[in-house]
Amino acid sequence: MSCCHPDKFDQVFDRKLARRELKTLLRKGPRKSTRVLVEQVRKCVSIRGKSLLDIGGGVGAIPFAMINDGLESVTNVDASSAYQTIVHEEAERRDQTNLFTFFQGDFVSLADEIESSDIVTLDRVICCYENMESLVGTSLEKASGTYAVVFPRSVWWNRILFMLTNVSLWIMRKEFRTYVHDSDNVRDLILARGFEARHHSDLLVWQVSVYERTD
Ligand SMILES: C[S@@+](CC[C@H](N)C(=O)[O-])C[C@H]1O[C@@H](n2cnc3c(N)ncnc32)[C@H](O)[C@@H]1O
Repeated sequence: MSCCHPDKFDQVFDRKLARRELKTLLRKGPRKSTRVLVEQVRKCVSIRGKSLLDIGGGVGAIPFAMINDGLESVTNVDASSAYQTIVHEEAERRDQTNLFTFFQGDFVSLADEIESSDIVTLDRVICCYENMESLVGTSLEKASGTYAVVFPRSVWWNRILFMLTNVSLWIMRKEFRTYVHDSDNVRDLILARGFEARHHSDLLVWQVSVYERTD
C-alpha cells in the first residue's frame, strides 16, 4: 500500500498548479500553516548550519524560508516531477542550486537512498498517502533532530471536506486520493519512536506539530 502509481501525483500536482503556487508564494509568502511550522521550528532550534529533508515540499516554501536563516543543505523529495522542476528553476533563479539535492518519486520507495537530516518536514503530505504508518515511520528514521508536520485535524468537517475532494477527483477520473488520518495515531507513532512534542497548534483545517528526538 504505497504510491502504487507514481503518475497519479503528476496528474494533480502538475506544472500549471506548480506555477500558480510559486507565483502566490513569491507574491504573498508561505500559507499560514507553513508560516507557523517555520516559526515554531525556529523557536526549537537554530537553523544555521543545519540540514533539511523536505518531503513533498511542493514549490519549496520551507527550504526557501529556511535558507534565509542559514540552512546548510536541502534534500528535496517530491513525487511530482512538475513541482521538482519548479523548485529547481526557482533555486537556479536565486543562485542556490548548490544547496539542493533533488529526488523525484515516492519517499517511502526512495528512503534507502536518502540520508538523515537535522530537520525533517512534511507539510500537507501525510494526507496524500494512504499508508500513514509507512510514510511517518520511514520519515522519522531520517530525522536526527527536529520532525515537523502539518496535516489535517481528524474532525468531522475535515472528513466531509476531504470526502468531497475525493468525489471530485473520482469524477475527474484522477487516481489520487486524500486521507484524514487519526491525529492520535500519528502522534502516538511519533512519540513511540523517541520524539518529544515541542509545539502543537490547531488551525481550522490543519494542525501543526513540532517534535524533537530525545533518544
Ligand atoms: C498538498 S501538496 C503540499 C505541498 C507543500 N508541502 C505545501 O504545503 O504547499 C503535497 C505534495 O506532496 C507530494 N507527495 C505526496 N506524497 C508523497 C510521497 N510519498 N513522496 C514524495 N512526495 C509526496 C506531492 O507530490 C505534492 O507535491
